[in-house]
Amino acid sequence: MKKIISIFILAIFLFQPLSASSQELILPERETIEAYNPELNIDELIEALPEGASLEDPYLWLVNRDNRITDPTEMPLAYTGGGIPYSAEIVEPFEALITGAELDGHYLYAVSGYRSVAQQAANFEARLNQNMSEGLDYDTAYYYTDMFVAPADASEHSTGLAIDLLGYDWDQYGGDLHQAYGQYPSAIWLAEEGDEYGFIVRYLDGKQDITGYEYEPWHFRYVGAEHAQFMNDYNLVLEEYLALIQMRDEAQSE
Ligand code: DAL
Ligand code: ZN
Repeated sequence: MKKIISIFILAIFLFQPLSASSQELILPERETIEAYNPELNIDELIEALPEGASLEDPYLWLVNRDNRITDPTEMPLAYTGGGIPYSAEIVEPFEALITGAELDGHYLYAVSGYRSVAQQAANFEARLNQNMSEGLDYDTAYYYTDMFVAPADASEHSTGLAIDLLGYDWDQYGGDLHQAYGQYPSAIWLAEEGDEYGFIVRYLDGKQDITGYEYEPWHFRYVGAEHAQFMNDYNLVLEEYLALIQMRDEAQSE
């Protein structure tokens, strides 16, 4: 019996569907949000937050340079038509996004989805080596790698909620993960309409100092439609949105 209970507990640990970490979140200060969004009134924004917005929401799981992955991230996975893994929790909104795009004439394909911490480490190493093979010295190659590729334990790809997407319209111009993709019709559609399906462009241009990464018009993150629409309406990144929720919670507990 004891053995069965231990196996059961182990199974719960291994297959927690999604887990927002219980660690204390490190979020931008109010002054930072004000500085990056001078046209917004922070108090009004806090008032306007969706009622149910919560730091405990597993779909708002924050992984970045300041909030690292500390636990294993095994999870049930689903696969795109092209075999790219992502969290099985978001099959419905992901498929709706792809279908919605097609109905508007945009044909998308996934390039990358779920990556374990070990896979992320290998990714970083591969990009670093590639940059060096193109003639850069180690420090310069590291600098450029670090702008776009997260360190092993700091990639939200490990949440299963992030998917890199490209459109076939861009494919004919190279099909790389390149910032120029942001000007192509399918990327514009994704940035404008993706929120209806719960997806945001995670690394916005102009917010690099907050997200810690360069603008990535291909990197989409599922957060849920209500949150995504709020972030899109006010041009906020996830770090800022969570900071607003935290400010609301702190004010309420005073
Ligand atoms: N490109 C994003 C930042 C990652 O590596 O997770
Ligand atoms: Zn990505």
